[in-house]
Amino acid sequence: MDKILILDFGSQTTQLIGRRVRDLGVYAEIIPGDRSLEGVFPAEASGAGTHRLRGVILSGSPESVYTPQGPVPDRRIYESGLPLLGICYGLQRMTHDLGGCVEPLPEREYGGVGVRVRMPGKADCFPNREAALRFLAAFDPAIPLADIIAGNALAEDSGERTVTAWMSHGDTLTRLAPGFREYGTSLTGFPAAVLHEERPWFGVQFHPEATHCERGNEALAAFVFGVCGCTRGWSMEQYVEEIRASLPARVGDNPVLLLISGGVDSTVAAALLLTALKSAQVHLMYLDTGLMRKDETRIVAASLERLGARHLHIVRCEEEFLSALKGLTEPEAKRTVIGDLFITIQEREVSRLGLPDSCFLAQGTLYTDLIESGKGVGKKARLIKSHHNVGSPLVDAKRRAGRIIEPLDRLYKDEVRRLGRVLGVDEEIVRRHPFPGPGLAVRILGEVTKEKCGILREADAIFIEELKKRAAPAIDREGAYKQGSSLYDEIWQAFAVLLPIRSVGVAGDLRTYGWVLSLRAVASADGMTADVYPFPLKDLLEISTLITNTIKEIGRVTYDISSKPPATIEWE
Ligand code: XMP
Repeated sequence: MDKILILDFGSQTTQLIGRRVRDLGVYAEIIPGDRSLEGVFPAEASGAGTHRLRGVILSGSPESVYTPQGPVPDRRIYESGLPLLGICYGLQRMTHDLGGCVEPLPEREYGGVGVRVRMPGKADCFPNREAALRFLAAFDPAIPLADIIAGNALAEDSGERTVTAWMSHGDTLTRLAPGFREYGTSLTGFPAAVLHEERPWFGVQFHPEATHCERGNEALAAFVFGVCGCTRGWSMEQYVEEIRASLPARVGDNPVLLLISGGVDSTVAAALLLTALKSAQVHLMYLDTGLMRKDETRIVAASLERLGARHLHIVRCEEEFLSALKGLTEPEAKRTVIGDLFITIQEREVSRLGLPDSCFLAQGTLYTDLIESGKGVGKKARLIKSHHNVGSPLVDAKRRAGRIIEPLDRLYKDEVRRLGRVLGVDEEIVRRHPFPGPGLAVRILGEVTKEKCGILREADAIFIEELKKRAAPAIDREGAYKQGSSLYDEIWQAFAVLLPIRSVGVAGDLRTYGWVLSLRAVASADGMTADVYPFPLKDLLEISTLITNTIKEIGRVTYDISSKPPATIEWE
């Protein structure tokens, strides 16, 4: 299968480049931009592994090339003979590394900027002309994306085209590196698209991966198909076939244990194991902590049984969790106790299963959980909340023994959902919003009790059910027309939070003193940042009335209008 390598220099949109290339049907892998490429060339370029490396994209960066912090790629990329596409910093990096000059702009440029692209005329001959015409086809509005994907679209060989590109940069090229030509100039007067006369090297000062970049997807497609000559091979059906071929060979007849959380990732991982291996060798374990959403255990169990699970071990441990949480009110204390107890119970129950040492441990780890990029080269994320479901002695021991399998480790979240659909996982689970490991315990502020879990579970279920029933506004916030989508599917994550305060109300002639509930709903791409979902007020009012009419313990409903940052998505 053809592959594009993306060198991540720390831009916020590097992940987006990867997603766009994959959505075009080509496998893309992101690695830190300053990593040594020893062994990568020429082995992968010759197709020695399962992937044939066809081209390299150099991402943007918050840094500048002329400072020591500016990340530097392994020079082997310039000697590999592979096509290169530099995006923003990536272009500046190539320019700087190959003998050109990059300097600061008087003022940072941000947003939509017109770019005039000149197509080479008939008389304009140079060795890289054919590839250049394929790349520049991206900027001809008359050429449809499908033709570019087919790989044979050529730019008309004369004239100029203007597109509104999307920029975010504080530096510019002030002298091109030897051998480069400028083919695109921004209407603000600096080089916006360049290409090399002899080698298949291209650079753009704008961000083709950004949604608002006109002909951006076409530019990536022109590079991937027209210049690199990739063929489409990346699809979830293909992925299933690959796993079916490779997993049995890796695992043999040994048993495989997977700990299920009830979320999308682990359920899809279970479905993948069940399709690739004999169901008798797949052991699934699920801890019902009593901190789950309404009916969660029943839905997950039913779905896994339908998928052919024969060894589904459901451990009921509500009492253990509630008694460990008794009297605790501080968020980190609650998280720590839950995390520790999870591990204790897991170890106990796994040893109770009596599986042999040769047993493999499967995990629903995603691509984004694994890659060292995304946080930016060399930057470390600070601890805001301790996530209990990261690492455990069991995972560590199996990793040391080389007995971990992570069958989703090449997938993005939206690909996991697509894979789930291909594998026949229930739609109810596939479209489900994320849910934190510590469950309702971090959505009940203050002390967690069985009674409060019950109240919150019912309120949350009403909220979610209503979001699924209600249609999203036909026009989304960016003005695009959307049809047939429910509010639930439009929202990244929605849930109810039970506050540790009560307030006075009236029911008939009687005074009430009920709990205060907050509804939370956010729009987000990855949970790292989030915007408050701008509900139509009518929906909020109706849902609030339904909750207070149905659950007598709740006297008042509020809506949380804080974005992340400064707030986090969960309240604790
Ligand atoms: P925050 O609250 O940090 O949440 O803005 C970001 C995303 O992570 C989820 N979350 C967790 N997921 N274990 C998880 O698997 C956890 O301990 C945990 N805490 C928060 C949260 O629901 C949101 O999607």
